[in-house]
Amino acid sequence: MKNTYNLRSIAATAISQVLDNGQSLSTVLPELQRNINDKDKSLLQEICFGVLRYLPKLEWFISQLMEKPLTGKQRTLHYLIMVGIYQLLYTRIPPHAALAETVNGAVALKRPQLKGLVNGVLRSFLRQQVQLEERSSNNSSQYLHPSWLLSRLQGTYPDDWQSIVDANNQRPPMWLRVNSQHHSAQQYLELLEQDEIQAHLHPTHPSAIRLEEPTAVTRLPGFEEGWSTVQDVSAQGCAELLQPLDGEHILDLCAAPGGKTTHILELAPKASVLAVDIDEFRLKRVKENLKRLKQHASVVQGDGTKPEEWAQNQQFDRILLDAPCSATGVIRRHPDIKWLRRDSDINELAQLQAKILDAVWPYLKPGGTLLYATCSIMPEENSLQVQSFLAKHNDACLNDGTKAGLQVLPTATGGDGFFYARFKKQV
Ligand SMILES: C[S@@+](CC[C@H](N)C(=O)[O-])C[C@H]1O[C@@H](n2cnc3c(N)ncnc32)[C@H](O)[C@@H]1O
Repeated sequence: MKNTYNLRSIAATAISQVLDNGQSLSTVLPELQRNINDKDKSLLQEICFGVLRYLPKLEWFISQLMEKPLTGKQRTLHYLIMVGIYQLLYTRIPPHAALAETVNGAVALKRPQLKGLVNGVLRSFLRQQVQLEERSSNNSSQYLHPSWLLSRLQGTYPDDWQSIVDANNQRPPMWLRVNSQHHSAQQYLELLEQDEIQAHLHPTHPSAIRLEEPTAVTRLPGFEEGWSTVQDVSAQGCAELLQPLDGEHILDLCAAPGGKTTHILELAPKASVLAVDIDEFRLKRVKENLKRLKQHASVVQGDGTKPEEWAQNQQFDRILLDAPCSATGVIRRHPDIKWLRRDSDINELAQLQAKILDAVWPYLKPGGTLLYATCSIMPEENSLQVQSFLAKHNDACLNDGTKAGLQVLPTATGGDGFFYARFKKQV
């Protein structure tokens, strides 16, 4: 049966909702792909993620091909043209099919009069592709990052910024966390091999496996029974460094969707865990994840800056604070971050993180451990945050062998960018 929708027009609409309305792709896509078949869902995701990954380059191509960009009510057609160029450059869709489907997108977007324009721009692109690509590799659009972020990366990491940018621009590897309550990573690797899924162990993270190619979770051995979880290897570092123990009372603050709550319970199944997050909707995902893994935790909606409203004078043996952050370490997984974040967000987020840290510190028992983590690579949210926290709290010290926490940078076949600092409260 022929589809009744035009996928390219849906992709252009999703991109418009991100760039013009400031919504994240992860919010926009589930809504837009509701009535789409599975094969088309993957293509829609591939196109939307790809366009947002390559946005500056695609913008530059259009600026060379059109005298004036489409604006106002016609703006979605501008994104439709990007969708067209992206397919011609980065997918294996035959050019005639990519062109025809994209041009028809103008009709689906109720602008049939612009079919000719879309067709004309895409055909000119095909004619001039080689020269345009050559010229684009010599201008700043090649870095695929907004200028404010590029300047921050260059200033903070004078030796590493280029490799960070390269890692950010790649498709992310898919990592699994093997549930140690069921199998060792080596045993699970063998199960994957039996199913002809190529994968690799990590040399130091004991439960981490990297898949050679991203794979649908339905193909993973025992996924529904909770044998494994999709989680980047750097995110796995949080529960590992927290070192939870059976019988302890543990707070997982900013817990949704629960990737680290479930890891804590895999490492310490008899710990009593309180998972708190401000976002009621995201907390549903925590409950779903706990259910799949057959684990139990108390799941509570609450604001990390106001623990007096939900902690009820309890004190915890360990606290994991996976703080809200700029997410500048996970750009390869969420390329929309590059266009949703603003320079001023970094300091605003650093203030919120400091507020949560200060508020929750009294709820840690003397002798207890607090692991502060972010998926950011900005010092304001990380090492500077740690220094300012230590300066304010005489009873806090780091016990992770570092002076101001551990910053991990994103790498192509390695983990996401992440930061960890393990504080101990003096007795
Ligand atoms: C990095 S994510 C957490 C990821 C989660 N720990 C995991 O492993 O699946 C940050 C979370 O902080 C939550 N958040 C933001 N502001 C908060 C606040 N003031 N209090 C509590 N949670 C907050 C967000 O809703 C979001 O779920």
